[in-house]
Amino acid sequence: IGGVTIARNEVVRDDDPTNNVPDSIFSKLGMQLHRRDKHPIGILKNAIYDYFDSNYDKQFDKFEDLSPIVTTKQNFDDVLVPADHVSRSLNDTYYVDSQTVLRCHTSAHQAELLREGRRRFLVTGDVYRRDSIDSTHYPVFHQMEGFCVFSPEHWKESGKDSTLYAAEDLKKCLEGLARHLFGGVEMRWVDTYFPFTEPSFELEIYFKEDWLEVLGCGVTEQRILKQSGLENNVAWAFGLGLERLAMVLFDIPDIRLFWSDDERFTSQFKEGELGVKFKPFSKYPPCYKDISFWISESFTENNFCEVVRGIAGDLVEEVKLIDSFTNKKGMTSHCYRIVFRSMERSLTDEEVNDLQSKVRDEVQRKLNVELR
Ligand code: PHE
Repeated sequence: IGGVTIARNEVVRDDDPTNNVPDSIFSKLGMQLHRRDKHPIGILKNAIYDYFDSNYDKQFDKFEDLSPIVTTKQNFDDVLVPADHVSRSLNDTYYVDSQTVLRCHTSAHQAELLREGRRRFLVTGDVYRRDSIDSTHYPVFHQMEGFCVFSPEHWKESGKDSTLYAAEDLKKCLEGLARHLFGGVEMRWVDTYFPFTEPSFELEIYFKEDWLEVLGCGVTEQRILKQSGLENNVAWAFGLGLERLAMVLFDIPDIRLFWSDDERFTSQFKEGELGVKFKPFSKYPPCYKDISFWISESFTENNFCEVVRGIAGDLVEEVKLIDSFTNKKGMTSHCYRIVFRSMERSLTDEEVNDLQSKVRDEVQRKLNVELR
């Protein structure tokens, strides 16, 4: 599938102290769900392409096989992410080595494409983030970046200031996209912050009694345009989360399902058919296991979740902090509830006990915590 093969030793480096890419992540590289026309992610990508092709006369260039292995310059510096921003930490991002990461957003490609002379483009790809575990978070997901440069004649004619012109055009474009994909849906704009845009917005969609963030966007910082000699222009950019949108569109209840090759999942989707509602196959029973330990200073929830996922893979549905307290000596205890559930079969007690005991061993060995 796709044209990319990435060797294990290109991303998992046991000899490099900065490397924090586990085998479970390596196994996702090159899967290219977004290039499968019968997969919900591919179907959604194609529907978004249709919207841009018909409304912008095919002026947006499309990229969908840029390597997810990028430099820290591409991922952070080129899009003005400050040196001390949390997203640069080993806790949030997968580092191949100190200079190389698995992109955490498709914005990593903005600068190089501008420098190449591109002015309107869409970039689709897999992105990687260390994160907690629940039904809407998975350490690999797919984004589509949109970027659109305007020259002075565009906004001069409107009589508006360039930033306002771009912001209005951006919102109009994305509201049109939402209508194209959903017909009617409840949505709202929320002001936010990104290092690379000002002003910046998020679009949220009402889903399962809650507001779900589906995209970030804004008017591109002038410094980014200047880096490519576009100081007299203005631009907008957006980055949308394909899984989140697809969950709403196809009624997919759990983000792990996108990675399933169970026929009861894959056979429900057809090329070009957007928004067919997914019929959940019977849910197998969950199994809950609690684990308590005294944490050390270096403990982070993301590290814990990665250990759990390294052992249980997609058999883990959720990891929840259910209790935390600090004793008189200043030691802090955490109790986590791990929800094990397979989407394909019933798990046996024996199997779950075995997973949990491996989790206990490994947490102790790798995370410097004291089990209680
Ligand atoms: N890169 C941002 C994210 O991943 C999304 C974004 C893209 C925001 C482009 C603004 C402009 O959250």
